[in-house]
Amino acid sequence: MSVREVLRLGDPRLRERAREVAAELFGSVALEGLITDLRDTMAARDGAGLAAPQLGVPLRVVIYGITANPRYPEAPPIPETVLINPVLTPLGEERQLGWEGCLSVPGLRGQVERAQRLHVAWRDPDGAHHQQEVDGFHARVVQHECDHLDGLLFVDRLHDSRAFGFTPELEAAGLL
Ligand code: NI
Repeated sequence: MSVREVLRLGDPRLRERAREVAAELFGSVALEGLITDLRDTMAARDGAGLAAPQLGVPLRVVIYGITANPRYPEAPPIPETVLINPVLTPLGEERQLGWEGCLSVPGLRGQVERAQRLHVAWRDPDGAHHQQEVDGFHARVVQHECDHLDGLLFVDRLHDSRAFGFTPELEAAGLL
């Protein structure tokens, strides 16, 4: 296991635009090592997803997946997926409002509006091309993680600053 430190809000490395993974890196030991670290760190912190910039690595790589997650008890299961150089295209005008948290913003949750449905194109660690349509919570997770690749965090997209706060307080107020 290589559980690494997750950068927190305020670290300028979270605010940079990450670089595309170059062709020669596909299938490499270095890329596989990064993905292992993302997977191990996400699992150790009960995250639903993690992006390479959160480990201080400025590359367009994200991982996500949900089995039974104590941080997201209501969330539907999502198979583990690694997206490299992802391209997101919203499908239709429909939007969804929902709560998000982030391992780089520990302890806080906020309501964020996202596209309901997306087309996602990406490459896998061996460089093969994939595409998929996703919706609902799955689409939310993809948008949140891919925002990290452009230096954006959910706090930049809060729907209403009053629907934002520490998890226990929001739960006590009946908001979460
Ligand atoms: Ni995040």
